[in-house]
Amino acid sequence: MSEDIYQEFILELYKNPVNFGKIENADLHEQSFNPLCGDKIEMFIKLDAGRKKIEDVKFIGNGCAISQASASLLTEELKGKTLEEVDKMGKEEIIKMIKIDLSKNPSRLKCAMLGLEVVKKAINTSVKEIQRI
Ligand code: FES
Repeated sequence: MSEDIYQEFILELYKNPVNFGKIENADLHEQSFNPLCGDKIEMFIKLDAGRKKIEDVKFIGNGCAISQASASLLTEELKGKTLEEVDKMGKEEIIKMIKIDLSKNPSRLKCAMLGLEVVKKAINTSVKEIQRI
């Protein structure tokens, strides 16, 4: 498949993102923005009873097609993963997920990574809170 087809799939997801919305009473909630453009993503995460796995995740945000489509794809990818597994995810997983090699395009890679950054921030804040209790 050519890269055009992948871009079309990104644009389609940008127009109709899966898992777009909020989760009331989310266990984890965090937001962040790309300082280069001001685009923003907010993530809502529901954990399982043992608070180790992601049961459900939704996002809201505004920004470029890559940031929003990547956040949307990420929400699908995260369901059922443990917090430890998610914390180990990095740019290789994101590039594989969006099927566009952005390794030589740092500013677009930053767009694609925004969703994962927010999720990791949420996980790390919650771990610190648990340690404080
Ligand atoms: Fe702002 Fe992509 S241009 S996140």
